[in-house]
Amino acid sequence: HSVAILGAPFSKGQKRRGVEHGPKAIRDAGLVERLSNLDYPVHDFGDLKFQHLEKDEPFMHVPFPRTVGRANKLLAGAVSRAIVAGHTSVMLGGDHSLAIGSVAGHAQHCPDLCLIWVDAHADINTPDTSPSGNLHGQSVAFMLKELQDKMPDIPGFSWMKPFLSSRDLVYIGLRDVDPGEHMILKNLGIQYFSMRDIDRMGIQRVMEVTLDHLLARKQRPIHLSFDIDAFDPSLAPATGTPVNGGLTYREGIYITEEIHNTGLLSAMDLVEVNPVLAASQEAVETTASLAVDVIASSLGQTREGAHGVYQEVP
Ligand code: ARG
Ligand code: MN
Ligand code: MN
Ligand code: MN
Repeated sequence: HSVAILGAPFSKGQKRRGVEHGPKAIRDAGLVERLSNLDYPVHDFGDLKFQHLEKDEPFMHVPFPRTVGRANKLLAGAVSRAIVAGHTSVMLGGDHSLAIGSVAGHAQHCPDLCLIWVDAHADINTPDTSPSGNLHGQSVAFMLKELQDKMPDIPGFSWMKPFLSSRDLVYIGLRDVDPGEHMILKNLGIQYFSMRDIDRMGIQRVMEVTLDHLLARKQRPIHLSFDIDAFDPSLAPATGTPVNGGLTYREGIYITEEIHNTGLLSAMDLVEVNPVLAASQEAVETTASLAVDVIASSLGQTREGAHGVYQEVP
């Protein structure tokens, strides 16, 4: 396997500035060097170039719909090409609206993929239920077949149609879910593990049930969409919508180790690192270095250590 890194410096899925600098912060924290310790080639394809649209009126109270739609179309093409070329795709955001294009592009060649969404938020609002209007809080609603008739025709998104079934999705880390989102989770019977569930069951059992839910019937490619705000804000302060009471470092890394151990990770997103919102340079580096740890661990870096098959005993 080889790894393709795709930078997606994009922020129009929400209204705060700075998250477009996420890819640079994550690279500056040593991403490529860390991945070079793993035993397969890493290709950094650099940053995608997103177009600036002069005129992009809000749709209902949803800002920048055409800009977000077009960026995601471009990203979907890039991810799809990376998958076809045999890479594991690693998308560096950028805000979480980019998951629309990343998962859609992945699904073009892996229509039976399943999705693990690690996040404080469910990002499953429709324009009608969204309190903010922001598209980074609506990404999953674009993907789900079951929400098709709840989604209006949003300008910029005519290139895609829903491709994911609600039973092929699991959430981990939820602790800030809007009322309309909670109704959708319950009505569709979506499998989710809130922070309370992690407190009750422990992360080991949560991962067992997650992987069993998604893979027991058949082995299939995994898409991991990891929002850095899943972690506690003490570990990931540089992000736009922090929520107290998040994942510990060890819970986060356990999640990614377990996903790696399936051998089925096919694409991932690491989103919402916002270097501009941090209180200090140290806070930026803490957050970005955590992002690197999450990616490296997803791709096979272990805490117990490793050695090559042909390595000699010293
Ligand atoms: N639920 C809120 C909203 O819809 C917050 C979403 C935060 N999403 C994120 N990707 N950080 O606006
Ligand atoms: Mn592999
Ligand atoms: Mn979030
Ligand atoms: Mn999110």
